[in-house]
Amino acid sequence: MLVYELLSLSPLQHLGPTDLLHCNPQFISLPQQVALFVFFWHKISINSLVTSLHASPHCSLSLSLSLSLSLSLCLESLLGSISVLFCRYIVSSLYTRMNQKLLSRKAACNVHGQDSSYFLGWQEYEKNPYDPITNPGGMIQMGLAENQLSFDLIESWLRSHPDAAGFKKDGALIFRELALFQDYHGLPAFKSALAKFMGEVRGNKVTFEPCKLVLTAGATSANETLVFCLAEPGEAFLLPTPYYPGFDRDLKWRTGAEIVPIHCSSSNGFRVTKVALEAAHRHAQKRGLRVKGVLLTNPSNPLGTTMTRQELDTLIDFVVAKDIHLISDEIYSGTSFDSPEFVSIAEAIKDRNDVAHRVHIVSSLSKGLGLPGFRVGAIYSGNDAVVSAATKMSSFGLISSQTQYLLAGLLSDDEFTKKYILENRRRIKERHDLLVEGFRRIGIRCLESNAGLFCWVDVRHLLKSNTFKAEMELWRKIVYQVGLNISPGSSCHCDEPGWFRVCFANMSEDTLNLSMQRLKNFVDSGGHRSTHDSGHRSPRRQFLTKWVFRLSSLPAAATARLFLQFL
Ligand SMILES: Cc1ncc(COP(=O)(O)O)c(C=O)c1O
Repeated sequence: MLVYELLSLSPLQHLGPTDLLHCNPQFISLPQQVALFVFFWHKISINSLVTSLHASPHCSLSLSLSLSLSLSLCLESLLGSISVLFCRYIVSSLYTRMNQKLLSRKAACNVHGQDSSYFLGWQEYEKNPYDPITNPGGMIQMGLAENQLSFDLIESWLRSHPDAAGFKKDGALIFRELALFQDYHGLPAFKSALAKFMGEVRGNKVTFEPCKLVLTAGATSANETLVFCLAEPGEAFLLPTPYYPGFDRDLKWRTGAEIVPIHCSSSNGFRVTKVALEAAHRHAQKRGLRVKGVLLTNPSNPLGTTMTRQELDTLIDFVVAKDIHLISDEIYSGTSFDSPEFVSIAEAIKDRNDVAHRVHIVSSLSKGLGLPGFRVGAIYSGNDAVVSAATKMSSFGLISSQTQYLLAGLLSDDEFTKKYILENRRRIKERHDLLVEGFRRIGIRCLESNAGLFCWVDVRHLLKSNTFKAEMELWRKIVYQVGLNISPGSSCHCDEPGWFRVCFANMSEDTLNLSMQRLKNFVDSGGHRSTHDSGHRSPRRQFLTKWVFRLSSLPAAATARLFLQFL
């Protein structure tokens, strides 16, 4: 049924002669005419096949089936596999070539870092999302580190503070003021409230000065802005593995910077060591890359662990010795829920005068406060030149003034923030424990963690072999057969196959229990050992499907025009 699959996906199926009339025939050369002839001949043959398949109920069943089968086999082996695919290949590569001519290399290239299984899982989820009422058999999203556990606290605050969301101040409308405000230094009231909140999240062991804060549209923008400030294209940052898959996009794509992994292993709980740091630095130099800094995520995504004071000191000594920068992405600081307590890099450098200018903190309200849609992030830097450059760059991704106004009210309410931080942590811990216990009952172990909205789950014993191929095979089964979207460790650049990141705070408790039940049924039935893999396709089929998918995303008429123009 390959031909049928191709036809149902391909935009060429919808082509009619009118689509081709847009092209002036006098410009069609002999080779183009030959190619067109081949194309239409195949289209007619294939259309006849489709008609015969559709008409089968009206014919004698056996005759129709055998006719369809032999035609299908014949077409698939003779035409489908050679000319039809060849034509589509030409169109596809011409389309890419044309795009490369029309667009910038950055826009046309495919190295935006969003093609990993991490993002692929999201796409699969979008096709069939679980809903307890309307789609109980759908896929459960466990690949998204969202925090939906404490919305009721924010909603209750909003109800009791109607001025904040209603563009009002002391009862008077300030709509015009907000509508016109566009200073990229941000609303002073918001910056002060955010700086205070950042200190509170860190147990008030450190204070943050609003003048060293740069507002950005989320941590995504903060990280990229820092890379723009600190590195030239082709220069590198060292990142401990496993790391957040979005970094391949955020740090590299537009800046042209490189990531060099600091290899961490399960043997010491994926801790960063001096040996691993030195090895990564040597490796970068061997590749001819100039290292500009280390970027750590503390608390870690995907591990859910926080760095010890000793680890932080090792990192600080390392960046000083190498004369490079240290970026500490602390987006998950508000999710630390257990001991050992989270130690911010701000605390670790408090008594060291020699390093503040090379240490930059990334913060965001996307995780602890659960507001990724508000796009609120910040850079905090002890380096005046970085603050100044990043502030100018922030005009490319500002936080809207009404968002700043609303959050200035929320975050400057001491009573609310204190209560929120404590209660949110309690709820995250409760949820974390529920997931860990659920896994334990299935005989699955999680890395011990004290922060984050996910667990780092060890399923090495469920792999058929100790390979990333086996990890992907298991991942496909969990996605397609079990109906859970979880993130394979390989998408986080983990060095060891068999680790998965599983999120727990973006769903209800009932959904979490259902996910554990589904997984238990799968493991108990030995589904992980079976060779049947509903999501698995042969490499040839995978290649073809990918290819056809690329083609099918082009509008039919555009494809036809391209086809004619470039032959
Ligand atoms: C470590 C890390 N940094 C940055 C981001 C991006 O966050 P934001 O939504 O604030 O852009 C994420 C999101 O998951 C993350 O995990």
